[in-house]
Amino acid sequence: MTFCRFMELALYDEEFGYYMTFGGRSSNGAKVPSQSQIGWDGDFFTAPYLHPILAKALVRQICEIDELLGRPEVFTVLEMGAGEGLLARDVLAECAATDEDLFGRLVYLLVERSPVMRDRQRHHLTPWINKGASISWTQSLGLLGDGSVTGIVVSNELVDAFPVHRVRIEHGVLKEVFVVLEGDRFVEEVSDPSTPALEEFLKALEVRLSEGFSTEISLQAVEWMKNVGHVLGKGVVMTIDYGHTTQDYFAPSRKDGTLLCYYRHTLSQNPYERVGLQDITAHVNFSSLAQAGEESNLCVTGFTNLMNFLLGIGVEEMVEGLDPESEVVRSAAQLLKPGGMGGTFKILFQHKGMERPMLRGLQYHPFFEGVLMEVGPA
Ligand SMILES: C[S@@+](CC[C@H](N)C(=O)[O-])C[C@H]1O[C@@H](n2cnc3c(N)ncnc32)[C@H](O)[C@@H]1O
Repeated sequence: MTFCRFMELALYDEEFGYYMTFGGRSSNGAKVPSQSQIGWDGDFFTAPYLHPILAKALVRQICEIDELLGRPEVFTVLEMGAGEGLLARDVLAECAATDEDLFGRLVYLLVERSPVMRDRQRHHLTPWINKGASISWTQSLGLLGDGSVTGIVVSNELVDAFPVHRVRIEHGVLKEVFVVLEGDRFVEEVSDPSTPALEEFLKALEVRLSEGFSTEISLQAVEWMKNVGHVLGKGVVMTIDYGHTTQDYFAPSRKDGTLLCYYRHTLSQNPYERVGLQDITAHVNFSSLAQAGEESNLCVTGFTNLMNFLLGIGVEEMVEGLDPESEVVRSAAQLLKPGGMGGTFKILFQHKGMERPMLRGLQYHPFFEGVLMEVGPA
């Protein structure tokens, strides 16, 4: 099978997939229903686990977009791949506390393929349903009507969880990595690509990889972005993830690719161990997302990183006067760290059905305008 199929099964097989089952396990490896994959007791943590500061910043950005859209009757926040729903919970709480009018018009729509994650989201969001918030779920974007969303489509660490193809250049030719079962071991075999779409992906980005270069290609991310463009009628897409522009993605320093596995906060590069019990991720190529979006009328609004987004939105003012040792200030510092989450996490903003918005979160520019469309590698 292709590596992509292997990763799809390892993460999303209905019975054994990492995201489709309960994540915790006892010392003998058996799964423990009460534990989660994400968080301090899990395998990795994400920004929403640090503190509601990200949600508070997001609500500031959402309010600005709501204004720019003329305060529509229904403002939808579509969050895809919301994990346990902590960001959703904190966005609803902040919105209720700061903009009652928007809270009354807000529909929070969660698109989540994992039934286990949907249950956890329901658990965290039931108190808000009881307080009258309008919250709904769907399993896939394909179930939503074209142009049905006015508002924002937001995701955090969704795209890095999409299954990827792995390719490499051998004797000047593009080859693909396949996974074969030998006895009770998975081994890799390299052969001709399973689909011409892989070559076409590189061609569209004008990428020529050097001999021996290994990398990942996410065809699913491209499809996803096009579908987001179909579903969004008017508003903004905000995609937060680890990732790079094409130039950086295919830079010589990444000649072995970006695939990483997480198990109990330990990193590994071996996807063939603890299959179904460890997370597998690959960095996101934001240039390919920008390009795919254009095919469904999503225009790039801007590209930034988490640090610059938070500074632009006014995080300093949000923590002003607070005890520097307080949890909120320490969490903000962690999200801002240029050598940590602040610099590693990038945010792509796209818009549709509106003039290019001047967003507060984009007022500082860590990248040159047009950097996403530069051909690579340098
Ligand atoms: C790495 S987790 C991120 C969770 C959360 N956003 C956070 O920041 O904590 C990825 C999430 O995306 C979901 N997911 C992956 N592929 C999906 C798809 N095609 N449609 C909907 N959800 C998906 C997974 O089930 C999981 O909930």
